[in-house]
Amino acid sequence: MANLTTDFIGIKSPNPFWLASAPPTDKEYNVRRAFEAGWGGVVWKTLGSEGPPVVNVNGPRYGAIWGADRRLLGLNNIELITDRPLEVNLREIKSVKRDYKDRALIISLMVPCDEDSWKDILHRIEDTEADGVELNFGCPHGMAERGMGSAVGQVPEYIEMVTRWVKKHSRMPCIVKLTPNISDIRKPAEAAKRGGADAVSLINTINSITSVNLDTFSPEPMIDGKGTHGGYCGPAVKPIALNMVAEIARSPDTHGLPISGIGGVTTWRDAAEFMALGAGNVQVCTAAMTYGFKIVQEMISGLSQYMDEKGFTSTADLVGRAVPNVTDWQYLNLNYVTKAHIDQDACIKCGRCYAACEDTSHQAIAMKPGRVFEVMDDECVACNLCVNVCPVDSCITMVELPKGAVDPRTQTTVGDYANWTTHPNNPSVQAAE
Ligand SMILES: Cc1cc2nc3c(=O)[nH]c(=O)nc-3n(C[C@H](O)[C@H](O)[C@H](O)COP(=O)(O)O)c2cc1C
Ligand code: SF4
Ligand code: SF4
Repeated sequence: MANLTTDFIGIKSPNPFWLASAPPTDKEYNVRRAFEAGWGGVVWKTLGSEGPPVVNVNGPRYGAIWGADRRLLGLNNIELITDRPLEVNLREIKSVKRDYKDRALIISLMVPCDEDSWKDILHRIEDTEADGVELNFGCPHGMAERGMGSAVGQVPEYIEMVTRWVKKHSRMPCIVKLTPNISDIRKPAEAAKRGGADAVSLINTINSITSVNLDTFSPEPMIDGKGTHGGYCGPAVKPIALNMVAEIARSPDTHGLPISGIGGVTTWRDAAEFMALGAGNVQVCTAAMTYGFKIVQEMISGLSQYMDEKGFTSTADLVGRAVPNVTDWQYLNLNYVTKAHIDQDACIKCGRCYAACEDTSHQAIAMKPGRVFEVMDDECVACNLCVNVCPVDSCITMVELPKGAVDPRTQTTVGDYANWTTHPNNPSVQAAE
């Protein structure tokens, strides 16, 4: 069986599945049960400075988006950092770590943006035996308005400055958790690296309003007739997170910076995708909140079976494997030609592909007597919209034309790799000629 143990910036864990800093990790009772269920590590719910803890709302704190089967696709929350006293959290962290030495236990921190506050909190967590710290520069609601969370994460200079303080006042490995509420994720990642971060983790939640109640005219979740923006997470955010992870992994300025991948991880497959794009491990929140701690068991068995099938002996064989295949649009092969093909035996004659191609795409699907749908190769631009709207899995497939074949649409022969940078229609190529 494949070896799932990971060594992430010197922090060892029996598998790459960590619980992200959130309600599932906010107390000893939870974290012990999570470790018993098999989680390789946890990032404890974010701690703040000593003093009176933050106060959460007493009404609903979640908004949601569901699929047609009411499966939770996206979750939005207006929760703050831990609302339990610092000493209680520290005592519990120490107690859990003492009993689970083989698991990773990271402490997430968010304190005001001054050196003394960081020095003080780092000093206080020193004797917990925790394996590292994660700096929460990500929460987009509640704390940001107080100059913390994403208010820091959106300013690369602050990230660099605080990371430097943390490295100056602590010997613990330091992970900087990034906010996705920014236009270019590489900038905060570069700043974290400059500040001396050992790794970055991403993404924290995305600023959002999930819905508006059309009777009360309030954003949801509604607190006494009012609502506010919250942080979005769950399966819906995975594509955004994957892209951001890939951007950091492939940028020459941050290539090699260890990444902990977060955002919508629900299955082993999601985890494997994050890892293939450069994440050394993954963190999970919404899936554990939705399905419970035991979901990790399917993640472990699924990933290990996949790795066995691929002949990967350790997670290092998987990490970063897809990064060289992430490129910019102008380098895509314009001589790669495919055509949609409908499997008539699988087709249930619903006509969705026809409607989509007729009204959105290229009028390349013919509806023949008896509701037989056929692709016209001389019109098909290979956009694959029909594949995506077809309700039957694998009923429509994209078939590659071999080199030397003539594309019936363009009448050109399929040739060797050639991209936009040398294409005769490219104005910069024309200018150079
Ligand atoms: C209710 C809730 C509370 C959260 N609290 C924190 C927090 O205290 N600190 C933090 O860094 N991230 C917090 N997060 C963000 C998660 O750690 C994670 O980055 C995000 O949910 C994306 O992962 P997911 O799609 O697996 O949920 C919270 C998320 C949720 C849903
Ligand atoms: S791939 Fe696009 S153009 Fe071709 S048949 Fe499907 S929807 Fe139409
Ligand atoms: S969408 Fe799929 S199942 Fe429906 S008609 Fe087209 S090919 Fe057939």
